[in-house]
Amino acid sequence: MKNTDSRENFSGSIAAVLALAGSAVGLGNLWRFPYLVGENGGAAFILIYIILAITICLPVMMGEFIVGKRSQSNVFRAYTSLTSSGFWRIIPVFSIFSVILVLSFYSVVGGWGVEYLVKSLTFSFTRNGAQSELGSMFSDFVSNPYKPLVFHTLFLGMTAAIVAFGIKKGIEKFSEVMMPTLFILIIIIAIRSITIPGANQGLKYLFLPDFSKVDSSVIMKALGQAFFSLSLGCGTVVTYASYVKKETNIIRCTGTTALFDTGFAVLAGCAIMPAVFAFGINPSEGPGLVFVTLPHIFSQMPVGGLIAIIFFFALLIAALTSSISLLEVVITFLTEELKISRTKAVILSFFLFWILGALCSLSQGVLSDLKIFGMNIFDFMDYVSANILMLSGGLLTVIFAGWVLGPKIIREELTNNGSLKVPLWLVNTMLFCIRFIAPVGVLAILIFS
Ligand code: TRP
Repeated sequence: MKNTDSRENFSGSIAAVLALAGSAVGLGNLWRFPYLVGENGGAAFILIYIILAITICLPVMMGEFIVGKRSQSNVFRAYTSLTSSGFWRIIPVFSIFSVILVLSFYSVVGGWGVEYLVKSLTFSFTRNGAQSELGSMFSDFVSNPYKPLVFHTLFLGMTAAIVAFGIKKGIEKFSEVMMPTLFILIIIIAIRSITIPGANQGLKYLFLPDFSKVDSSVIMKALGQAFFSLSLGCGTVVTYASYVKKETNIIRCTGTTALFDTGFAVLAGCAIMPAVFAFGINPSEGPGLVFVTLPHIFSQMPVGGLIAIIFFFALLIAALTSSISLLEVVITFLTEELKISRTKAVILSFFLFWILGALCSLSQGVLSDLKIFGMNIFDFMDYVSANILMLSGGLLTVIFAGWVLGPKIIREELTNNGSLKVPLWLVNTMLFCIRFIAPVGVLAILIFS
């Protein structure tokens, strides 16, 4: 059963690409990618990341896209509307659980971003800019029982408000204005960072690969990061693809999104690493890089106060365009399967995610002793979603596309029944990646991580 009549659509391919790129570009690029590059050998990590993004992640994304576009339905109905076998109901179960887990902690980190934007607007970094001061500022803030909850509420509220406006007036409008803004902002910061005296070392670190640091765990981390960054295995691509028009060129749409996302990650690296090296800081600072090391750097550099404001504003935009894509998966379920109105669905999910996010946030402080499999709630949600649910969801989807839908349907979808002039070798290569390379690749990391 398709529900094309009652559904909204993106206005066109560009709008769809901007929304997809908005989903992809987020905290994964600005917060996670730079510190992983720092910890895992710089350029060599980037190179591996790019190879995996093209050979494994792009095919998975195409698989999800085909399922969404062909079924024109929400992630719960998409798979079963394309096959009679009930087995594939399992994929949406993975999707919904990972979306719930990811959005819960995403909203907390997004809230930290809001707090740091406020801090930068009041020039708090420049007043006490020592790295140790900033370190304790961060840990005091995240472990405080009330403050992060206030900012979590704000971030989730903004996400809910945008999604409440729907596809065209909410998600599409927001992405259309904010994505180009985001690119301009990050380019300004990258230029500032590259022109600091001593920035060369950082550029070398980013662009001259040293393969001596590469082992199997680095490869695993690169693939996990690529999955997270491209929003795969959670149903977000299926959901957005269900809103595109029939004429959409899938290879171009997914290819551009992957290119934007990877380009943005590298730009974020250029914005951060040269400054890190110029100020003689160890690049493998870990997750605190963005919230501790960067504010320290901002406090040292000329016009750093202004750059800090631009940076945290960009971080907030990037996080919001991603969190709306996560929330939309849940909203389509509530509105289309349970027939709840959009507004009610948004309010309902706001409360659900508020509570889960609050638990996550408190696990950094008062609830830190509450452990699940030895991890606090926050780390548990991050670990289970990124390492188990998303990868399994992505793996099953690409198997579904490659082997259940099969070559004939994939060819039809990639060329829009032959009406698009896509070179045959490209279609064949993608088909081969969807059926063989991607499933084997993902299976390998699922087993080894
Ligand atoms: N890709 C986003 C980022 O890099 C986060 C995100 C949005 C996401 N939707 C997702 C991650 C779905 C996993 C699955 O920040």
